[in-house]
Amino acid sequence: MLDKTEKRPILVIDDEGSMRIALSEALSRSGHLVDCISNGYDALKKVQSTSFKLVITDVKMPKMNGLEILLEIKKVLPQIPVIMITAYGTINNAVEAMKKGAADYILKPFSFEELDAVVKRALANGRNKETPVKDGQKQKEIITRDSRMIKLIDLVKSIALSKSTVLIQGESGTGKELFARYVHQYSERREKKFVAVNCAAIPEDLLESELFGYEKGAFTGAVSRRLGKFELADGSTILLDEVSEMGLKLQAKLLRVLQEFEIDRVGGKEPVPVDIRAVATTNVDLKQAVEEGKFREDLFYRLNVIPLKIPPLRERRDDIPLLVEHFVEKHSLRCKKVAPRVSPEAFTAFKNCEWRGNVRELENVIERTVLLHRDEVLLPEQIIMEEVSEDGKVKGVIHRGTRSMKEMEQDLILRTLEELEGNRTHAAKALGISIRTLRNKLSDYKRQGGMQI
Ligand SMILES: Nc1ncnc2c1ncn2[C@@H]1O[C@H](COP(=O)(O)OP(=O)(O)OP(=O)(O)O)[C@@H](O)[C@H]1O
Ligand SMILES: [Mg+2]
Repeated sequence: MLDKTEKRPILVIDDEGSMRIALSEALSRSGHLVDCISNGYDALKKVQSTSFKLVITDVKMPKMNGLEILLEIKKVLPQIPVIMITAYGTINNAVEAMKKGAADYILKPFSFEELDAVVKRALANGRNKETPVKDGQKQKEIITRDSRMIKLIDLVKSIALSKSTVLIQGESGTGKELFARYVHQYSERREKKFVAVNCAAIPEDLLESELFGYEKGAFTGAVSRRLGKFELADGSTILLDEVSEMGLKLQAKLLRVLQEFEIDRVGGKEPVPVDIRAVATTNVDLKQAVEEGKFREDLFYRLNVIPLKIPPLRERRDDIPLLVEHFVEKHSLRCKKVAPRVSPEAFTAFKNCEWRGNVRELENVIERTVLLHRDEVLLPEQIIMEEVSEDGKVKGVIHRGTRSMKEMEQDLILRTLEELEGNRTHAAKALGISIRTLRNKLSDYKRQGGMQI
């Protein structure tokens, strides 16, 4: 979600000078900044170099017509709403344009009020729409109204078309992966599958073959050639998640990939060229890791071409109500419930939390709360918090109410089970505990109270 006061201009494309002047005056009167251009070719160049909030284009123009412009814009920047200007005689063009992704159309001649209404509607819809995605994964929207975050999103859009490496730093759960996917989504690589590698989850020796692949016979068990993630990401974007966890030997190999754009498969004789765009994320201070000798300095500079520092949620508390509403809607829909209204007191409670685990923690809390919630209104004592340690890791579940922890835990577990029709696997997952812990707790309750479970 973008701020209403945003200053990005509207681009007007029309071959008729008088029309450009009229549109420019009308839009400026409504407080928009306006940029005018007389032909499609220049407009497409401009669209890629400037961040516009909206494009208004005439349909009938010599050389490149409005429909062609629309298709080109949708290819590079699918999220920009495009409004078509058309005449009564050519209304079919407008219908076709809407099918091809135009936000709206306006018929000539039109009044100032009509134009204003169409623009307002297109901007409002554009704000909440999910970015269409081509690689089969649904792109999640970055919800924010924080000026630092909006600047980061604009930065991502402006650098997406380049091949420069992006380093995303931020605490756990701040949305680093979400930003990494945005980089891919706004690039011309979006048609290709985004490849993600979690450097922390894979042991060092396996990580090498995971990233670089291997030739048949490279080691015992290498019965056939296997392509690594770099080769799988050829022509696309590769996310090196938690890059700080990579060992020094692999760091040297990674540096070579980023300098030469070629890789050596394990046991391979020839280097293989790869066309990749690398995005790395880390939740530790990489500069400090360099000072401590844990991370190569040359690699740090190679990765840090475009640095994105995502602020923790507690430094952008105005985002919390927006995120709360978004997640309440999302998870209510998921469990086929009517979304409860969040009381002002609950909003305050959400706003005042520390959120060490950032947006991920907030979403988990809402997911659990919504799952177990039955009333029309959500009150603060009904929020089911997580117990999160200093580094953002979840330790357990706590209720904000006044009963004893034990009682609340039992109540929560039994209600979750009931809600999920006795499915213990699902219940354990929803509760964030292992199935073994759940089983033990249930036998405790049975022993204590002779409960029928
Ligand atoms: N601004 C946001 N709007 C909507 N959803 C968000 C936002 N920020 C984060 N999320 C959601 O929160 C969760 C955590 O985000 P993400 O995985 O990108 O964080 P991360 O920084 O990579 O975390 P980690 O360091 O733990 O890997 C995801 O489900 C993501 O979709
Ligand atoms: Mg992550």
